[in-house]
Parts: sequence; C-alpha cells; structure tokens
Amino acid sequence: MKASPESRPNLLQGVAENWRPPRYRRLSSSGQRFRAAFLRFLDLQSGTIWRDLSRILPAEKGKILDVGCGLRPYRSLIATDATYLGIDISGAQKHFGFQSPDTIYYAGDRWPVESGTIDCVLCVETLEHVEDSRGFVAEISRALRPGGRVIITVPFCARWHFVPHDYWRFTPSGFAALFANSGLGDLKVYARGNQLTVACYKVMAVVFSLLSKANRRLDRWLPRALLGILSLPVFLPALLLANLSLCVPGTVDCLGYTVLARKE
Ligand SMILES: C[S@@+](CC[C@H](N)C(=O)[O-])C[C@H]1O[C@@H](n2cnc3c(N)ncnc32)[C@H](O)[C@@H]1O
Repeated sequence: MKASPESRPNLLQGVAENWRPPRYRRLSSSGQRFRAAFLRFLDLQSGTIWRDLSRILPAEKGKILDVGCGLRPYRSLIATDATYLGIDISGAQKHFGFQSPDTIYYAGDRWPVESGTIDCVLCVETLEHVEDSRGFVAEISRALRPGGRVIITVPFCARWHFVPHDYWRFTPSGFAALFANSGLGDLKVYARGNQLTVACYKVMAVVFSLLSKANRRLDRWLPRALLGILSLPVFLPALLLANLSLCVPGTVDCLGYTVLARKE
C-alpha cells in the first residue's frame, strides 16, 4: 500500500460506537439461563471469561466487590454465603448503557468502600476503560484486607469498543509493571484462548459486522448484508473450531487475560 496514512480516516474524528449492551435482566427462568449460555457460546470473550470465573469465583468467601460491575453478569457464580457488592461509575449509563439495581454509583477515583474491608475484588473487562490504571490498582490495594484476592479480566485481541472510553490493551509484562510496588503480590497472568481462537473470533467478527445494520442506510447495508449471508457457511465452522480450540492451553496470541493477585 503506497498511500500515505493521511489518506485514511483519522480514527479520532467521527468514529462512534454502534453497539449497546442489552437491558439488565434477572435470569430467573431456565429458558433465560439457556439463552445466556447460548450467547456465551457465540461470544467467545464472555464465554471464556465465564469458564475461568466459574472455576475460581464460587470458592471466594466474605465480601466480594465487583468494580465496574455493569449488568453484573457473573453475580450468579458467587457463593450464596458470600456478600456481593457491585459498584460502578456515575457515567456507566451515559457512556456504556449500563444500569442495574442495587449497584452503588460513584463519581471520582476513590471507591465508596472502607480501606482493608474487602476479601475479593472482581474487575471484569473494566481496566481497559479506566484512564488512570495506576490509581485504580492503588484503590484495589487500599480496599483489600491483607491476603485478600483480586481477580481481573481484560481483553487483548478485541476491537476498540465503547468508543472513546476504551483506552488500553495490557500484556503480561504490562501487568507486572502496573502491579510493581502496589502492595499486591503473587501476580499470575493466564491467557484465554490461543491463535486459533483469535483467528476464528476475527472471522466471526467480520461476518457479524457485515450483517450489522446499525446506523447504515438501507442502500449501503444491503450489498454488505448479502456478502454477510454468503459468508455464513464459514461462520459455523469458525464458531465450532473456536470453541474446540479452547481445549488446548492459552498462548500469548490470545483473546484476553485472566489475572490473579493477592494483597501482601
Ligand atoms: C465493558 S463494561 C464491563 C461491565 C461488566 N464488568 C461486565 O463484565 O459485563 C466496562 C465497565 O467499566 C466501568 N468503568 C469505566 N470506567 C471506570 C472506572 N474508572 N472505575 C470503575 N468502573 C469503570 C463502566 O461503567 C462499565 O460498567
């Protein structure tokens, strides 16, 4: 490609987020739970996060603080004898479309919790949306009791989302640098998915974006949609292969990371 970068759109001008999350729903019937499980099968990011969290969260006891909780999709994984507290920023609805009952909304950088009172901080797909990540890690450390655990997930291979409120992608060494001197130790970073998962995920994303009509005029959308329909035969194998690829260990070229650490 010989064209200068300036011939391409400047992404800081005029890029808008089309996708909005669904409204909050309490999953009470088995039909609703089945639908949620099916959506996790389709959405590899949330599916792999669910897999990881379902293996670690039920064992957490005491006070569990879900920071940037959104619609609280992982609440049901928490043991019934643990205390769940969901907090989010006051801009959650305006900037992310998230509003859920029983969530404490707060403004500013300081979390509405007493120091050293939390047994487990849960932070799912939120850190990449926080401008001041060091300040955020300092709040994790302040909130946790000694020995308390933090569980974080972040995307690695994901599009720029909730534009413009998506600031960072982290690497394992990025986490090591971010957590250094934070009072949090025993840092572990695990990959979710591998190169094959990512390749299939991107194929599926192309088909989705061809079919997605958001903010597009019908005459512009129809040819893309036709291409999307023609691409459907690759979608299903990609979906199955992606889910099968999760049987082998995660690698550095992955969907995202699950990060564990403890307050020293
Ligand atoms: C991608 S959503 C994830 C929501 C939820 N954790 C989930 O897994 O569905 C990102 C969340 O981060 C929250 N957020 C953004 N900036 C934040 C900040 N500085 N502190 C705490 N939460 C923040 C948003 O309000 C939003 O709920």
